[in-house]
Amino acid sequence: MSPSVYPPGEEFARKAHVQGLEAYRELYSRAERDPEGFWGEVAAREVHWFEPWSRVLDWNPPFARWFADAKTNVSYNCLDRHAASHRKNQAAILWEGEPGDQRALTYQELHRLVVRFAWVLKSRGYRAGDRAIIYMPMVPELPIAMLACARLGIIHSVVFGGFSAEALKARIQDLGAALVITADGGFRRGKQVRLKPAVDEALQDCPGVRETIVYRRTGSEIPMQSGRDFWWHDLDAAASEDCPAEHLDSEHPLYVLYTSGTTGKPKGILHTTGGYLTHITATMKWVFDLRQEDTYWCSADIGWVTGHSYVVYGPLSAGATTLMYEGAPDFPRFDRWWRIIEKYRVNIFYTSPTAIRALIRQGEQWPDAHDLSSLRLLGSVGEPINPAAWEWYYRVIGKQRCPIVDTWWQTETGGILIAPMPGAVPLKPGSATLPLPGAVPGIVDLHGQPVGDNREGFLILRQPWPGMIRNIWGDPERYKEQYWSRVPGAYFTGDAARRDSDGYYWILGRVDDVMNVSGHRLSTMEVESALVRHPAVAEAAVVGKPHEITGQAVCCFVTLKRGDWNHDQLGEELRQWVSREIGAFARPEEIRFSDALPKTRSGKIMRRLLREIVTSNSVTGDVTTLEDLSVVARLAAQQDEE
Ligand code: WT7
Repeated sequence: MSPSVYPPGEEFARKAHVQGLEAYRELYSRAERDPEGFWGEVAAREVHWFEPWSRVLDWNPPFARWFADAKTNVSYNCLDRHAASHRKNQAAILWEGEPGDQRALTYQELHRLVVRFAWVLKSRGYRAGDRAIIYMPMVPELPIAMLACARLGIIHSVVFGGFSAEALKARIQDLGAALVITADGGFRRGKQVRLKPAVDEALQDCPGVRETIVYRRTGSEIPMQSGRDFWWHDLDAAASEDCPAEHLDSEHPLYVLYTSGTTGKPKGILHTTGGYLTHITATMKWVFDLRQEDTYWCSADIGWVTGHSYVVYGPLSAGATTLMYEGAPDFPRFDRWWRIIEKYRVNIFYTSPTAIRALIRQGEQWPDAHDLSSLRLLGSVGEPINPAAWEWYYRVIGKQRCPIVDTWWQTETGGILIAPMPGAVPLKPGSATLPLPGAVPGIVDLHGQPVGDNREGFLILRQPWPGMIRNIWGDPERYKEQYWSRVPGAYFTGDAARRDSDGYYWILGRVDDVMNVSGHRLSTMEVESALVRHPAVAEAAVVGKPHEITGQAVCCFVTLKRGDWNHDQLGEELRQWVSREIGAFARPEEIRFSDALPKTRSGKIMRRLLREIVTSNSVTGDVTTLEDLSVVARLAAQQDEE
């Protein structure tokens, strides 16, 4: 049976940026025939440049330079050009705090606040190329800090507020940051989440950090170290409004965002200026079909790449009104998001399948109690959306009027690469549909050979694109090895996918040791390294287990050192331990104790078998390389007993 197909509604298509499949195909083939000509045009149209480029792309695989030697500035593009236009008094950011407080910042006002904070940074001696860590709750001062850094060329790395002091420390050290911008805390589910204490703990081992700047959000008592810690409002009180945007090279680093790889050490994904800005500004229009009058809301936390590209930089560069909400979707009740959509008349709503599934569970009465008629487009990101969740989203939230754009991309791709242009491409629930112009995906086997239609294979990208990762911070060898060595000449995404006979892409999930928990990427090795740091643990193997709401859940197999352990107590202790070492979102769902772990003769843990055990409780396939088959039998049997 072929899956259902939803062609664009007539009314929607008539007003869309790209209208009809033919128009899409024309754009796509134009980009395919002449990528440099195509991107040169997009860049000239969508971005303001202080000085032009002499060459669109300088491709020295796997290192790309886009619009090199041209000069631009992300902060200028997001603020100055709008503050000097008819958008001056339009809301740039609509913000709602969890307790219900609200702020609306016009482009002019946001510009003013960013200039003041940039002046503060500059007056304290921070310059282009310096590094700052930003560890803040979802308040407007978070994008203000990012934009102030971007204004001066200070390379920022936002660390999600849910990460622990340990994780924060590792990122500060790897980046060699001189400055940490933080807050006393934020609000989540009615409680204060304290951030500054985690900074204090991390800084005990970060001698490179000269100063912290602390925004007061909750008003909780926090210790301030004199000479090192400064209140944002004190520094702002003395600030001037004279701090122009630096004319930066197109390849100047904009930010580093840490994400999980296949080892225990997170990778610092490096994004630069002009190409990234071109990519995310164009996709705001292609995929979200952004219009002047829209109120746009992406529910992601800015600590993840979705927040960088599609809460802050993309929408502001495109001159949109972007909404930010500080807290939890279920606070004080399960209808908080629908309340917000009704209250602010949100037109475009972009969220994750995990969030949708969690809301489905609460029942339709919550959205049904609100007027959602302002919505005209819905989006999904972070993991494959199962058709049942798609249908619910379409029917209950979109009232069968709103196209759903399922957007495939990664921290490394910087912006969306596979997604429908909603006025042009018919939708199939569960498929990210067709590649955007300039994206050239392929599906290949282990040897890099293309597989046929409807066959599963590795998803690769055959051509460089402007928003692409430029390097892993401080580790070009790992960059080459991770992304460019599996299939010669192509970028390896780490995802499995298949393409159907209409050319639609169906993303099947990761093929490496990376889990996707609630749309957050988490490495099995990272959790394993955290576990073996615990004094009771001898060895650990971690796999993702299918989970109804979060997509995958963390499941750990643990062998213990000699001793008399209480498994129940220790299981709970290890869960807390992982939360402490990484962050609460990494907390294991399940800990299983075992005498030994299944390994190959060379000593590699056979995660594939463990995955099968947690998925189906049985083991099939090739087990001839197993060192000790009885281990698998025992593990599987143990499950049966439970
Ligand atoms: C991985 C990237 C991109 C921002 C959020 C996650 C999975 C992402 C989709 C989608 C199926 C998806 C992939 C990808 N993924 N979007 N629409 N359909 N899978 O960023 O943490 O870098 O994770 O998320 O597995 O490789 P990330």
